[in-house]
Amino acid sequence: METVKNDKQTFLKRTHTCGELRKQQIGETVVLNGWIDTRRDLGGVIFLDLRDRYGITQIVFAPQHDEELYRRAQLLRGEYVVAVSGIVEHRPDGTYNPNIPTGEVDVVVRELEVLSKAETPPFQIKDRVDVSEDHRLKYRYIDLRRPTMRNNLLMRHRMAQTTRRYFDEHNFVEVETPFLMKSTPEGARDFLVPSRVNKGKFYALPQSPQTYKQILMVSGFDRYFQIVKCFRDEDLRADRQPEFTQIDIEMSFVDEDDVFTISEGLMVRLLKEVLDVEFAAPFDRLSFIDAMKRYGTDKPDRRFGLEITTLSEIVRDVPFKVFSDTIKNSGAVAGIVAPGCASYTRNQLDNLVELTKSLGAKGLVYVKMTEKGYETPVQKFLSQDDLAAIANAVGANTGDLILIVADTWKNCYSVLGDLRLEFGKRLELIDHDKIDLHWVTEFPLFEWNEEDKRYYAMHHPFTSPRLGDIEKLKESVEGVDARAYDLVMNGNEIAGGSIRIHTPELQSIVFDKLGITPEEAEQKFGFLTDAFKYGAPPHGGIAFGFDRLVMLFAGQKSIRDVIAFPKTSSGLSLMDGSPSEVSEEQLKELHLKLRL
Ligand code: AMO
Ligand code: AMP
Repeated sequence: METVKNDKQTFLKRTHTCGELRKQQIGETVVLNGWIDTRRDLGGVIFLDLRDRYGITQIVFAPQHDEELYRRAQLLRGEYVVAVSGIVEHRPDGTYNPNIPTGEVDVVVRELEVLSKAETPPFQIKDRVDVSEDHRLKYRYIDLRRPTMRNNLLMRHRMAQTTRRYFDEHNFVEVETPFLMKSTPEGARDFLVPSRVNKGKFYALPQSPQTYKQILMVSGFDRYFQIVKCFRDEDLRADRQPEFTQIDIEMSFVDEDDVFTISEGLMVRLLKEVLDVEFAAPFDRLSFIDAMKRYGTDKPDRRFGLEITTLSEIVRDVPFKVFSDTIKNSGAVAGIVAPGCASYTRNQLDNLVELTKSLGAKGLVYVKMTEKGYETPVQKFLSQDDLAAIANAVGANTGDLILIVADTWKNCYSVLGDLRLEFGKRLELIDHDKIDLHWVTEFPLFEWNEEDKRYYAMHHPFTSPRLGDIEKLKESVEGVDARAYDLVMNGNEIAGGSIRIHTPELQSIVFDKLGITPEEAEQKFGFLTDAFKYGAPPHGGIAFGFDRLVMLFAGQKSIRDVIAFPKTSSGLSLMDGSPSEVSEEQLKELHLKLRL
């Protein structure tokens, strides 16, 4: 038998990382391992930056030290992985690099080992280089070497650790729940997994652990959390991925205030530990109606003003039919002020009307407030007094532009909400140094879907109606509020949850109102309602969108930038090429036949 080689010392192993050396180590012999970053040949001396995830250290090859070594260093290219041994030296005066922590020293190399060669990378390992996102995703391993991406993942790690510590300190138990499960109704489409063993049957990947965490409350776990992957087959946007991560929470014997306190504590802790920002709890609360009327959305960005003003009362009886008829038909008329925009040209105003229509409104009335008075295309339908009353209500001054929309209640406010955001950006009113965190509460329990002509649960079907509304619910779903809440940060919904139904009776009423028959309810959620028959504590919870949270903390615009291996907007993983075809053999095993 051949003797097995002792492979413990196959290469020069690092004594320090590339972010570690300081003046204190001057004179020491050290070994560094890392990637060749930038290279400068200066008057017969080669300076290389050696990079690892901890930082960058300059290493030096000079022919006067070692001719042979210098010759080999000339062959080193970007992204080669090397080991070097050498002596830490003070950089000559005037050559310090104040931008990096190792900037006072360099390592004069005495030994070089090339651990791995590298082809020229498809793009530079540098922030702010012009490279398409598809290219970055295809070569994600290269992309993740860039400082911003590395820092994003490191921040994500820190946030996850802080979260775990926080919940552990508060007596929460982390319980893992299955990925292969029965379909849960969270509103999106399920990803399905065919079962080989159980012919013709499918698992669903969880849209969230919602039903499991409620069952854990029935089991008495009392305080549960989990940092967990969720899967939703929905159309993707910048803040959505088909698989994403939640900080999932459920608590027994609680009401809204308890869930708020725990959630606020987590946010305060994360802001302090990760961003060193002090933020005071309790956070503001806005009702859903208030949020809609003032900001036109259930996730307001309150880092700037431009609030919406309701004009319905003022325009109820004006001769302008677009306004008065809208009110007669139970719609709403409301407006915002674009400060200083009375100077808009005809062309700019036409574009604004088009934009408003593309947002879903039937039209837009604008009123310029100029030195000469009000200027508006609907001059002949609105008296000077009407215009003055409108201007007064919205708080417009000379030089401002008033924008008014008349539509169904929901359309009127949501279109104005979009216009508000548009002007917030255009006029650079958003204070990016500010943090806005608040709750939105008192959501309606149900939401009418015009396409399907039926009601859906606005949060999910396990959400409790407001206690005072339960009698009302038996008659009609209109005007019934939910014990649901969202947490909003800088205009993003970062968490959502509710106090749950915990009696089979109330759950049946809600299923019934959602048009779910008792048979269907039994088939889909029988396991949950059964569990409730054996002693269910009052309970409630919330889930944070962890990717969105990290995105906001890291100051990124897309959650893809805080996920190591994300999908494109068409659900592709460009690096490994998934989804992909599978063999006939695999399909057969799963009892599947493709019909393309
Ligand atoms: P909800 O569906 O509101 O609630 O989800 C909670 C939070 O998860 C984030 N989120 C997403 N992030 C990225 N990509 C997605 N596709 C995506 N979908 C949602 C959002 C959202 O606020 N089980 C309930 C929670 C509960 O009631 O306790 C739930 O999943 O930030
Ligand atoms: P019309 O009566 O369609 O010619 O519209 C007269 C003016 O009212 C135009 O400036 C339209 O853009 C505007 N307008 C039409 N419908 C609405 C609406 N629902 N809300 C606000 N403005 C509207």
